[in-house]
Amino acid sequence: MRENPAQPPPGAALCRVSEIADPGAKGFVFRQGEKLFMGFLVRQGAEVFGYIDRCPHAGLPLATFGDRFLTREGDLILCSSHGALFRPRDGLCIGGPCAGRALWPWRVKVEGEVVVAG
Ligand code: FES
Repeated sequence: MRENPAQPPPGAALCRVSEIADPGAKGFVFRQGEKLFMGFLVRQGAEVFGYIDRCPHAGLPLATFGDRFLTREGDLILCSSHGALFRPRDGLCIGGPCAGRALWPWRVKVEGEVVVAG
């Protein structure tokens, strides 16, 4: 069962893969009543990875501006608050104040051209 009722249910379409830059990321906010669910998708080629938009350091959203979840090079996820760096594939923090911890995964999958909640 989903802990947060605002989280899209399994099978819910989120976006087309082509709507995410390659490499790139796209943030989402869903609301149900007073509950919010914030997540983001990271694309690397045909693969898409999903994470909860909450940094394991201080619990803040990672991007403070639009869909800028990645470093300038597009190879790592960057928390804009204090500079933590995370691997796109598994969310592990490899630098910054929460090194060794990881982002919380948001289960998603690619079905054809569409990213759906897993
Ligand atoms: S809240 Fe992300 S590095 Fe501090």
